[in-house]
Amino acid sequence: MSNSMHLAQKIQKLQPSAIRELLKHSKMPGVISLAGGIPSAELFDKQGLSQATQAVLDTQFNDAFQYGLTEGSAELREQLVTLCRQRGINTDSDRLLITSGSQQALDLLIRALADEGDVFVVERPTYLATLQILTLTGASVKSVSSDEQGMIVDELEALLKTTRVKCVYIVPTFGNPSGTTLSAERREKLVKLAAEHDFVIIEDDPYGEIAFTDRREKSLLQTAAEQGLEAHVAYTSTFSKILAPGLRVGWIILPEWMKQKVAIVKQATDLHANAFTQSLVSAYLKLDRLGPQIALIRDAYKQKCLRLSQLLEEELGQHLTFNQPQGGMFLWATFRNDIDTTAWLQKTLAQGVVYVPGEFFFSDNPDRRTLRLSYATATDDQLVEAVRRLKAAL
Ligand SMILES: Cc1ncc(COP(=O)(O)O)c(C=O)c1O
Repeated sequence: MSNSMHLAQKIQKLQPSAIRELLKHSKMPGVISLAGGIPSAELFDKQGLSQATQAVLDTQFNDAFQYGLTEGSAELREQLVTLCRQRGINTDSDRLLITSGSQQALDLLIRALADEGDVFVVERPTYLATLQILTLTGASVKSVSSDEQGMIVDELEALLKTTRVKCVYIVPTFGNPSGTTLSAERREKLVKLAAEHDFVIIEDDPYGEIAFTDRREKSLLQTAAEQGLEAHVAYTSTFSKILAPGLRVGWIILPEWMKQKVAIVKQATDLHANAFTQSLVSAYLKLDRLGPQIALIRDAYKQKCLRLSQLLEEELGQHLTFNQPQGGMFLWATFRNDIDTTAWLQKTLAQGVVYVPGEFFFSDNPDRRTLRLSYATATDDQLVEAVRRLKAAL
């Protein structure tokens, strides 16, 4: 049985993650990587995480090493209710399911919703790993363009005239890869369309807290709830970008009608999320360090983002356009003329700098002039050198 034709057809179609392949290059000595979507490990709260780990060992040893509930730790779910309230989202713990990161949340939600051929709408560009899940489920993927205000909801409205849509997947705040945020007006309209055309919105919010200004858009879930339409939104978020991704702790707020079935899908997948790291997050939250920790991350990423934007503007402004991110970890740029950024990568690699070519973030008709640059892990000197090398590769 060594023939790959034995693999299921859906699996044969799967492509390796372009980003993971690129990360191999980024590990080569001397290469500066603006490719990875990973948080800066220098910002991990070593003291707080150590203290929380010790507290788990001292006071929650049995729970941390025992099987737990599929829905997740009751204590952590209560704490998440409070955390969500601080984000302006009202929920009760009953609708919360703790997952192994948002990635699992997306997998569970999509598997719970998608029959073969069901239409799922994503943004152009969208989060790569969601496209992988959609391929696995056999859903049919349609994409809707976005601009500096996020998904062009009018384009979705036009699509809905001819197409029955099961679900819209969206990263509405500081999107990956686009860095853009859906405007308040478009949020209202999207929710209204979900009700009129009876589709589900998966709101993926890993970056909402990493805001560079005081401006906050209301979540789609809360926008919907205020109109009694919360049955149309499943919201997911994660501790990956605000605390540490290795913990693998995320969560979903589910509509009533989904919660039991999604919990069964979770049960069939892994019984429950890691009990030790759930206890650890719970203990960490009790230390009241998350607020200051997020402030630190915001400040650091804001400085790096401003620096990268300034350097790009100065050095490559005549070749590239981009929207100034107001939060998150990514800057999405487009060449003014016809450069294929996948091919160009060989040249930049020869100069010692990598990014992610934009084509991988499109479900169809990729715009090959685009690229995603992450500023999260680079130092100031590296940003300067990275832009110098990009320019040299042109
Ligand atoms: C938009 C988006 N959704 C989900 C995830 C997955 O995050 P997690 O580490 O919580 O699984 C990421 C990670 O980069 C992301 O960018």
